[in-house]
Amino acid sequence: MSPYCYANNKIVKLTETKVLANDLAVLRGYGVFDFARIYNKTPFHLEDHFVRFCQSAKLLGLKVPVELNTVLKATANLLVKNKLKDASVRLVLTGGASDDGISLGKSQFFILMDKLTDYSPDVFTKGAKLITVQHARPLAEAKHTNYAVAVKWQEKRQKAGAIEILYVDNGKILECAMSNFGIFKGNTLITPKNDILAGVTRKIVLKLARKKFKVEERELLVSELADADEAFLTATNKYVVPIVKIDNLKIGNGKVGPNTKWLLAEFKKEIDKICYKNKK
Ligand SMILES: Cc1ncc(COP(=O)(O)O)c(C=O)c1O
Repeated sequence: MSPYCYANNKIVKLTETKVLANDLAVLRGYGVFDFARIYNKTPFHLEDHFVRFCQSAKLLGLKVPVELNTVLKATANLLVKNKLKDASVRLVLTGGASDDGISLGKSQFFILMDKLTDYSPDVFTKGAKLITVQHARPLAEAKHTNYAVAVKWQEKRQKAGAIEILYVDNGKILECAMSNFGIFKGNTLITPKNDILAGVTRKIVLKLARKKFKVEERELLVSELADADEAFLTATNKYVVPIVKIDNLKIGNGKVGPNTKWLLAEFKKEIDKICYKNKK
């Protein structure tokens, strides 16, 4: 994590930030966050992330103490302070210190920054693996700080050589621990619609996909994976990752397919258009 962050209303050293031990974020995993990226000193869809941050807060009954403008200004200042050109930005709002340990307190608001780290190019050219875990995120539409199940299964994921955990519930596919999921059957893209986080990357990718493919946002069954030609996940820090294996099931011919390759290329063009064109 970079040394400087924004805490409540000023830029401070990360080591100087304070969250009380009776904050609901500590006691109950009760808080919200969002995670965006900056390329070439230019925020990528930060407004969409801020809108979702506010929606997550509203779902949990928390009040966001800043406007978008403050976030944009603070982020620009943090880039300079942290000497970064490309960065990740994490907005965080806690449930607040609570007298009785369960009622909401006064929220703490932070903007954290870090340098970017990407997966190795092999992940995109050869494809990656997922493992499945039975789970449905509670309050799934909110990006809340309770990732207990995701953290618990990290060791198993690593041992299996998987990039992500795919949550499945009663025979339905939902989303990954930190990404959205979709498949192609021929030239039809199918992605779960309900009980998921509305990913910002998912939204951009679906808009791009509609130029070339039929898109179905609907219930997706685990049994449909057997006839999928391609599978992929989307997330801010992962772009579009081709998935070639899920548990022991090979997806399609086990190789990265043309439709996923196209989505990834179009998504990269979108970053280029917003963050690099005319800015070099
Ligand atoms: C549970 C969950 N679903 C989906 C996503 C993908 O969302 P986005 O594309 O906005 O990064 C994330 C991102 O961290 C996530 O935590």
